[in-house]
Amino acid sequence: MSPWTQQLAGRFLAFEGPDGSGKSTQLSRFLAWARVQGLAVVEVREPGGTAVGERIRDLLLDPENTDLTARAEMLLYMSSRAQLVETIIQPALQSGALVVADRFVASTCAYQGTAGGVPMHDILRTAEVATGGCWPDLSIIFDVDERTAAGRLNPLLDRMEQKGAAFHRRVREGYHLLAQQRPDDMVLIDATVDEDTVFERLLEVLQSSVGVTKTTSH
Ligand code: TMP
Repeated sequence: MSPWTQQLAGRFLAFEGPDGSGKSTQLSRFLAWARVQGLAVVEVREPGGTAVGERIRDLLLDPENTDLTARAEMLLYMSSRAQLVETIIQPALQSGALVVADRFVASTCAYQGTAGGVPMHDILRTAEVATGGCWPDLSIIFDVDERTAAGRLNPLLDRMEQKGAAFHRRVREGYHLLAQQRPDDMVLIDATVDEDTVFERLLEVLQSSVGVTKTTSH
């Protein structure tokens, strides 16, 4: 294992981005790559990742739940997250594994905050309670324009994907704001280009970040 790859052990990464960003494809590629490097990797997804979390996911993504308010939605995401952090993420980090999350708090900031209108202050203090201060060392945001994202989506849209173009435009703006406000632990990658180029860029970003990211309170 090369020295920089070794430094990924015990780190916590979150893969983020609007629906249709290609994040999940990059995540599967990255997991395969990390395992070939000999890293112990634990993969989690949000919402979900635990038995109770998957039930919360079903509630959140069910297109029939049209009357969920943004605050109720936010609390359900946080509830799933609390279960995931305590039962899976914390123990994995303590064992020295690399934890890779398909979405985390940045999603709540972009979707329920910037796009959904829940004040950022409320989201952050709820996140503090839900995570007990366990934050990703780095959140990698796969950035795509609306048209590219729409072309990558499965035509059977879930409840969040059905929220319409204006909502998803604000989600993207939310991610841009986060990357500007928190350059130390949020990074944007242009995900409109081909898959191989995005993956190369991802490895470059990780390589340059491992030397400088500080280990957070997990
Ligand atoms: P996925 O399609 O990437 O699995 O994500 C599920 C959906 O949930 C996606 O539309 C983003 C949304 N979401 C939020 O709105 N807030 C959150 O905190 C999380 C984790 C996901």
